[in-house]
Amino acid sequence: MEVLSNKYTEEEILRRLQKKLDEKRYTHSIGVAHTAVALMMAHGRAQQSTDKGQREIAMAYTAGLLHDCAKCLSTEERDKYCSKYRVELTQMEQEHPFLIHAKLGAVLAKEKYGIDDPQILSAIRWHTTGTEKMTLLESIVFSADFIEPNRRMLDCLPKIRQVIYRDLPYAVYLILQQTMVHLEHKGQPVDEHSLRALEYYRQFERS
Ligand SMILES: [Fe+2]
Ligand SMILES: [Fe+2]
Repeated sequence: MEVLSNKYTEEEILRRLQKKLDEKRYTHSIGVAHTAVALMMAHGRAQQSTDKGQREIAMAYTAGLLHDCAKCLSTEERDKYCSKYRVELTQMEQEHPFLIHAKLGAVLAKEKYGIDDPQILSAIRWHTTGTEKMTLLESIVFSADFIEPNRRMLDCLPKIRQVIYRDLPYAVYLILQQTMVHLEHKGQPVDEHSLRALEYYRQFERS
């Protein structure tokens, strides 16, 4: 599969990633990459077998592979990269450092993996919280992260996996809704981007 890096081959990207992630996270990343490809084949321009279609598939693969590239950093490494690349953190991110890996992941994908395409970087940026009016690629990486085959089974997963190939915005809505329920259950606050996303995607709710 083609990886859209200006520095590395697919094998080199996989090797670098494997060194930086634990085994579970690496397997998850491969799962997200392949799920993102499948979703792009269903929703993108691939059916027209144009060059654009092929590029979209490579974008989905690249973004899926690297979406969690900053997930397994130590606190020291994370702080070091945040100050080196001047990543500004919101209060929410400071209080819930788990959220930082999305923002920092977009930076490291560029700096450490040679990814230049702003659409790929943006899909990495928004994969955790989602945001309103996501692009096709952003929606796909956001959803693939939730439904990929190695995910722990949740009651809502079969339905989401079933509708997602027909109705992506509805699937995004269901995932956002599920995420809220989960966070509320754990007594954790919800990021403002997720709230805005849920408000926006509510229009795609189906009965
Ligand atoms: Fe993530
Ligand atoms: Fe992930």
